[in-house]
Amino acid sequence: MDRVNFTVNGKQFTGAEVSVDTTLTEYIRRCADLRGTKYMCLEGGCGACIVNVRARSASGERPTFSVNTCLVAVLSCEGWDITTIEGIGNRQNGYNIIQTRLNNYFGSQCGYCSPGFVMSMYSLIQGSEHHLSEEQIEKSFGSNLCRCTGYRPILEAFKSFAVDPDPKILRKIKDIEDIDNLICPKSGVKCGGTCGNNDQDWCLINAHVMDKEEPVPKKISLSDGRIWFRVNNIKAIFESLDQVNGYSNYMLVAGNTSKGAYPIKFYPKVLVDISGVAELRSHYLDVNLVLGANTTITDTIHLFDELSKTNADFWYLEVLRKHLEEVAHIPVRNIGTLAGNLILKHEHPDFQSDIFLLFSCVGAIVTLVDRTMTQTELSLPEFLTANIVGRVMTQIKLPPLSRHHDVVTYKIPAKEQNAHAEVNGAFLFKFDPKSHKVLKASIVYGGIKPTFTHAYNTEKFLIGRNLFTNDTLQGALHCLDKEVDPNFNPPEPKPHFRKKVALGLFYKAVIKLCPREILSPKYVSGATTAYEDRPPVSRSYQEYDTSRPDYPITQPLLKKEGLIQCAGEAKYADDIPRISDEVFASFVVSTIARGEIQSIDYADVLKIERVIAVYTSKDIPGVNSIVRGDFQLLFENEELFASDKIYFYNQPVALVVAETQVIADKAACLVTVKYKNISKKPIIFTIQDAIDAPPLENRLITYEGITPSDRGVNVQRIIKGSFYSPRQYHHMMELHSTVTCPVDNGYEIDCSTQWMDVTQAAIAQLLNIPNSLVRVRTRRCGGAFGCKIARNMFAACGTALVAYKLNRPCRIAMRMQDIMRITGKRPDSRLDYEVGVDGNGQIQYLDGTFYVNDGMSRNENENSYATDSMKNCYNPDRWKVDSFGPITDAPTNCFMRAPGGFEGIAAIEHVMEHIAKEIKRDPIEVRFNNYRVDDNQLPEIVPEFLKKSDFTKRLEYIKEFNAKNRWKKRGLRLNNMAFPTQYLGNYGALVSIYHGDGSVAVNIGGIEIGQGINTRIAQVAASELKVPVEKVAVLSAYDFATPNNFSTASSITTECCALSVIRCCQQLNARLAPFRALMPDATWEQVVFEADLRGVLLQANYETSPNDPRLQNYSIFGVAATEVEIDVLTGTKYIVRADIFEDAGRTINPALDVGQASIISKDFPITIPSPSISIMTSGLA
Ligand SMILES: Cc1cc2nc3c(=O)[nH]c(=O)nc-3n(C[C@H](O)[C@H](O)[C@H](O)COP(=O)(O)OP(=O)(O)OC[C@H]3O[C@@H](n4cnc5c(N)ncnc54)[C@H](O)[C@@H]3O)c2cc1C
Ligand code: FES
Ligand code: FES
Repeated sequence: MDRVNFTVNGKQFTGAEVSVDTTLTEYIRRCADLRGTKYMCLEGGCGACIVNVRARSASGERPTFSVNTCLVAVLSCEGWDITTIEGIGNRQNGYNIIQTRLNNYFGSQCGYCSPGFVMSMYSLIQGSEHHLSEEQIEKSFGSNLCRCTGYRPILEAFKSFAVDPDPKILRKIKDIEDIDNLICPKSGVKCGGTCGNNDQDWCLINAHVMDKEEPVPKKISLSDGRIWFRVNNIKAIFESLDQVNGYSNYMLVAGNTSKGAYPIKFYPKVLVDISGVAELRSHYLDVNLVLGANTTITDTIHLFDELSKTNADFWYLEVLRKHLEEVAHIPVRNIGTLAGNLILKHEHPDFQSDIFLLFSCVGAIVTLVDRTMTQTELSLPEFLTANIVGRVMTQIKLPPLSRHHDVVTYKIPAKEQNAHAEVNGAFLFKFDPKSHKVLKASIVYGGIKPTFTHAYNTEKFLIGRNLFTNDTLQGALHCLDKEVDPNFNPPEPKPHFRKKVALGLFYKAVIKLCPREILSPKYVSGATTAYEDRPPVSRSYQEYDTSRPDYPITQPLLKKEGLIQCAGEAKYADDIPRISDEVFASFVVSTIARGEIQSIDYADVLKIERVIAVYTSKDIPGVNSIVRGDFQLLFENEELFASDKIYFYNQPVALVVAETQVIADKAACLVTVKYKNISKKPIIFTIQDAIDAPPLENRLITYEGITPSDRGVNVQRIIKGSFYSPRQYHHMMELHSTVTCPVDNGYEIDCSTQWMDVTQAAIAQLLNIPNSLVRVRTRRCGGAFGCKIARNMFAACGTALVAYKLNRPCRIAMRMQDIMRITGKRPDSRLDYEVGVDGNGQIQYLDGTFYVNDGMSRNENENSYATDSMKNCYNPDRWKVDSFGPITDAPTNCFMRAPGGFEGIAAIEHVMEHIAKEIKRDPIEVRFNNYRVDDNQLPEIVPEFLKKSDFTKRLEYIKEFNAKNRWKKRGLRLNNMAFPTQYLGNYGALVSIYHGDGSVAVNIGGIEIGQGINTRIAQVAASELKVPVEKVAVLSAYDFATPNNFSTASSITTECCALSVIRCCQQLNARLAPFRALMPDATWEQVVFEADLRGVLLQANYETSPNDPRLQNYSIFGVAATEVEIDVLTGTKYIVRADIFEDAGRTINPALDVGQASIISKDFPITIPSPSISIMTSGLA
């Protein structure tokens, strides 16, 4: 039987016994056991899985490029040379300079995204032959998500490789790397290190190596009964289908990326890989430009770039090229093809295809060929309605266009990069050279509705008219208004918004083309989107104080695990190598929101090959709950599987166990659940639903509010309003992952959790076994953000149940979609308020009602935190706030980044802005007038901050800018914060000194979730014991060493663990003191050795609790100002500049704190990096 042959890091692999949906990610991780390549979304959206590939192009060259392995079927890898993160550098052979550089810039926090970033950069440099500008680098990472760093340090690390790096960027690592002495061996001048001037060989293989061997046709029978053909010419496509009579159930596979846009649940029986068909990927010029239909988008971009410069008839390809650079991101464009995109549009007419938009606008023609090799030529609108079964798209013809034409295109996505268009528009006009009247118009939109492509009526209206008169413009907008009628298509924006954008785009196109002499300068900036306006390269700087005498405390040391994270060597829960006999599991979820389960039928599912078992609530030996309702933060048990009643749509009802994750996932969709007593009442989903619900349902739980002690009498203005903050998915990069192994008479659980204690106790309760038989270990989390305090427990309890039932190891990494469905999010919250203020905005009274949506249970509710945080830095004596937690028919919501703090502070800051707006006073002044007197550093900090951030001058400039620009507006606002730190829970530490060499091992109850706790703890231990930091290792968190610890959350874990470590070290120092006194000249190692000889215990433990008198609640003060520009016509925006000032006190490691603070830009795509984030630690506390 034929096999697929490829290499991974130089080692030959022969893919066999795979199914059609075995992705390259799965193969690399599970078959090649190279776990450095990570994964999260499995749909080409996050970049965690990126590797480098060298493969044959249409011309026979072997270029190198990046791919998302999650989109690539391993069967498509014939002839590929694949390089993974392990292949470019590692502990054994030395690290690659990109790995070390990313670490040196503090570009890795939780580290889960880091290998993907490194491989993207590696591919970029390899593909560019090392000639990258800062701008190119900044534009090239739309493919990669990071949920921790805020991108700034990552971009800086990579921009240091540019040919034109900003010297300030290089200076940032001068203490770590000998950057001053990096001299390029080729040019003899200083460089960032990309030219192979050290031991890194950047050019292992010449980029222009030719592959003389033609791709070999193959026929492979797959393990799932499907057939995979690989063909090398068009005729062979039909021959393959003829051979197996496959016309009724087949699919052609080109780049295979479309499954990232529209997931494929079940593949057809026959698959024909056409990526090796050279004629589908070549091009030629006759009158037209004739493109092979499966030319990749990357190749098309290069070709358009070249032709637009060299061929006058194809000048317009430059416009198309620019737009194509906004399609998807580099790894998708590297293998995704034009035909694949157009066929996707054919299959899903609602798809906002940019390729269809561009090609339809310029009048492209596609050629389809059938099995008799008969060719049919169709315009793109004709193609959309044509029958394409049994036909192959072979060519796309683009016409020449004279200079009497103009082409303008726009794409309006929700974020600038790697996002589909919410609306896109392309406009072509042909003008009469003498009269300048429109001879031809082509107006195409995407994102309106499936049946709408061209605005035909408007096109007709424009013929014979002068485009640049007010009458024509108004007439055209009127026509558009009539014919653009968007459908309701959630989650796309609402129809009226999309219509406005569509009309706005036409207006923009007219402004763009309008002769400048007849256009008021105020309108000129309306021609571009905000994305187009932003500076191409972002800049940032940071400042902090350190205290050398206190080193290693306050020393900006690199993260201990940073380098192994950047090299893909850091292990996360699902990186545990394959365990023989292990099984996988996937949840079956309810398809109703409220009702009862009548029956669960899985008899047929058990007949599916390699499905092992299906478990429901009846299989649980102990308590059916994912938590212990009597633990802190938790109030009640929550079912692992609904036993009877359903409380929310997508509630887990069963678990399917199989030999592979893919089989388990697919089988889970096939379990039949029947329901009874389905509630006919409206679903209670929103806060308002809960408020409106019948009182008998008791939907509003009352929490402690704020009681006034005073009420002012000088009420000059009453202001009413409401502030709503929506739900937010945590989007951590590492999924909820757990591996549970039955060991002896208990279970060992490697779990990605912020809270080992509840994991252990809930599993023991579920299985009805002693806690002591459940041992939980968490090496690190690849991002947690609150979601792994207890919501990870579905995965943890699921694996434990399976391990218990089958006595086999079980592994679950819940799919991103399942996590989104099954687990709660940051709660949505609403503050309804009425404030009475005096003429200065000082609050005389505030009557507020604060709602924070609990979801189906009160567990992990953040109401009290939100209400308390609302006080912020202000005097709340005159505030009355009632606090409610609506119980809704939705998963239990949970903590997320600054839980409660965010909701409370955002709400009251909104109120301050509202007051200022209503009474027309400076919002900063209004804040000052409401500041509390005690415990408030802001009156000192804010003026300094305003000065440093040039606030007043910038405000003046903004006024001028807004007056001069009709369609672009800027705003600059300040926010201040007094974050209330509250101690809760116990945190332990165990410090062991090894007598052999005096090295120190520390275990703490806190979990490394990217915040750098391990590094800081090592600094604390080293400082206390007076040993070098390198002597201290902080080991995986393990509940055997540090039991009964509270969750890593609420910004208190590091300091509580640090205090425990200090207390441990104090014990050890006391025991060592006599030896130090006796041996004043002895080294640390000698003292330790001697002490051990004398029977001194070199291990100490300690646990802090909130009762410890040293732990006093306190406030953290901070100020931030953000300047934003918006495009009024489309709503696109970018952050012009952001400044952050935080008083971090006497920080253990200021460089890590900068990283924690600069996650401000985390929720923005990487290409809105302009925030110039300045962090200043005043050291006041
Ligand atoms: C993360 C991500 C972001 C994206 N963003 C955008 C975006 O911003 N704008 C946009 O327009 N698109 C976007 N896309 C879609 C992307 O452009 C398409 O996935 C890609 O072009 C499809 O090409 P492919 O070769 O991978 O197709 P495949 O997935 O291989 O095939 C897709 C379909 O086309 C059929 N097919 C392929 N070639 C032929 C042929 N020659 N004849 C007949 N049938 C054929 C296949 O049978 C299959 O049904 C995005 C995709 C991803 C994954
Ligand atoms: S891009 Fe492949 S896992 Fe996210
Ligand atoms: S460091 Fe990037 S996701 Fe955590």
